[in-house]
Amino acid sequence: MIKINDNCTGCGLCIDDCISEAISMKDGRAQVERPCIECGHCYAICPVGAPEIPGVDMEDVEEINPAEFVDVKALLHTIKGRRSVRQYQNKSIEKDKLALLFEAGRYTATAVNYQDLRFIVVQERLTEFKELIWNGLAVMAEFPEKNPDIERYAGHLKKKAKDPADDYLFRNAPAIIFIVTDRLVDAGLAAQNMELAAVAQGLSVMYNGYMVRAANMVPGAAEWLQTEGRPISACMLAGYPDVTYLKTAPRKKADILWK
Ligand SMILES: Cc1cc2nc3c(=O)[nH]c(=O)nc-3n(C[C@H](O)[C@H](O)[C@H](O)COP(=O)(O)O)c2cc1C
Ligand code: SF4
Ligand code: SF4
Repeated sequence: MIKINDNCTGCGLCIDDCISEAISMKDGRAQVERPCIECGHCYAICPVGAPEIPGVDMEDVEEINPAEFVDVKALLHTIKGRRSVRQYQNKSIEKDKLALLFEAGRYTATAVNYQDLRFIVVQERLTEFKELIWNGLAVMAEFPEKNPDIERYAGHLKKKAKDPADDYLFRNAPAIIFIVTDRLVDAGLAAQNMELAAVAQGLSVMYNGYMVRAANMVPGAAEWLQTEGRPISACMLAGYPDVTYLKTAPRKKADILWK
């Protein structure tokens, strides 16, 4: 449970911003009355750093300087310029760059501050994982009556058998990232921030729904990935793009109701 230390001056800012209504004022000092969602807002708003949240990483807390936030023009240009890349350079992603993707993922909003996402990156053992998935799908395809979903992969299995380089699931990406959680929206939000962190470092990703389904259904894949019984809710291929887009891709006009 959150504690308020002796630095508290009783300004009341944390009380006004607490979604759990867990803080009250007593004898001129804030005190937390009950367990809460541990969103950290009280710490973020407190001028004297009085709230203490057990079990969180305080090392990377930063002073906020709004002047350093990315400006909207640059942000929109990045969003419009990002592409689902299906051609990658034969080059591994540096670990420090991947680490920044996971920073973007873990700082993303989660419902009820759940923060229950596991990020799994397969890069060093990708060949092993590819074999597990493709061999698993091939075995499942022998028993289509038991595996109705395998129909979706039949054409890709045939193409891959003819030409091993024709790999619909993995393309030639050097890395593949999974997000494990039972909360789809949380996974999607984290994935989007991770994509922006990728693009900001010269990388690209491709969301891969076929791989989500395959990794969830191929026997042994979840154990190999260490999902601990929870579903894989998002998957992205990742790597350095081997393709250059000159313009943003056109989109339909937005369907917006201004009321
Ligand atoms: C899918 C989703 C649903 C949410 N629903 C609510 C909500 O109904 N009410 C609310 O006060 N906050 C809601 N939140 C905000 C979370 O509580 C918040 O993201 C979390 O406490 C972390 O705080 P932060 O976003 O300020 O970092 C939601 C967040 C997500 C991702
Ligand atoms: S914001 Fe900080 S100083 Fe102000 S009441 Fe809350 S804990 Fe105390
Ligand atoms: S962590 Fe969030 S919910 Fe908990 S006391 Fe602080 S502001 Fe309230």
